[in-house]
Amino acid sequence: MNFSASDPIALLVNNGAKQLASLSDSAKLDVRLLISHVIDKPLSYLLTWPDKQLSPQQYQHFSSLFEQRKQGKPIAYLVGFKEFWSLNLQVSPATLIPRPDTEILVETILNNHPQSNIRCLDLGTGTGAIALALASEQSSWNIEAIDFQHEAVALAKSNAKRLGFSQVNIYQSDWFSTVEHQKCFDVIVSNPPYIDALDEHLVQGDVKFEPKSALVADDNGYADIEKIIQMSKAFLKDTAWLYFEHGFEQSKKIHELFSQYGYSEVTTIKDYNGNDRVTYACYKQ
Ligand SMILES: C[S@@+](CC[C@H](N)C(=O)[O-])C[C@H]1O[C@@H](n2cnc3c(N)ncnc32)[C@H](O)[C@@H]1O
Repeated sequence: MNFSASDPIALLVNNGAKQLASLSDSAKLDVRLLISHVIDKPLSYLLTWPDKQLSPQQYQHFSSLFEQRKQGKPIAYLVGFKEFWSLNLQVSPATLIPRPDTEILVETILNNHPQSNIRCLDLGTGTGAIALALASEQSSWNIEAIDFQHEAVALAKSNAKRLGFSQVNIYQSDWFSTVEHQKCFDVIVSNPPYIDALDEHLVQGDVKFEPKSALVADDNGYADIEKIIQMSKAFLKDTAWLYFEHGFEQSKKIHELFSQYGYSEVTTIKDYNGNDRVTYACYKQ
């Protein structure tokens, strides 16, 4: 590592960015986020005070995090937080780091359901990203969120409490195993595991540090999606909607599954890169 404890912030950023260039598309930002984390100041402080130096303890902390970043560990796991829908969410290796693509799912649901009295269930909530983003926009919605990982449930609850969304009911469930009320939801939403176990992306980038339980599904990635499509029918109200985030090549098969289980009005939305990313459909009892 070509740093010294006496380097000013600007030099740490430039040197660090060069060393991370082959690993990260956002090398400069990565280094800034690490420095901002260890000195506990906003990013704007780094730009205002580029000549400041870190204290010896801060420098040691930064060096240790930087080495882990060089090994590929995601920035969000190093600093413990990730911004999603303008919410600062605590993250942990128990679940997925929320992605900007998932904001498309939130945006689509909010656009399609302007009503104030929606009852909504988020399946596989992880950090609570989707449920809490919806709650931040629609404070009167009745929102439940489940995950089968106890650590994820604890994390989502802690995020809900810290951000002031304690009204979101978060609990442990293996998909619908402990969801009590049938035929009561207007909207069910899920960003479930949807990657095939042999997919090469699983050993690349941030993904290789995230738990397989959040990413991988049997049947070429479709097992959980099919299970949710099938089981949701008992939990949706008459004329209600099921939304998924999914892989960019999965929309055709998901359209087929929705039709096979009797859903209609199947619609796919593209992400910011023009890839199919969200598919939803209506179930009429
Ligand atoms: C792709 S992550 C999505 C996390 C979060 N909703 C998001 O969008 O950032 C999938 C989540 O589903 C959870 N999960 C996987 N299998 C499950 C199951 N059988 N029942 C409930 N949750 C499950 C995982 O623990 C993980 O948190």
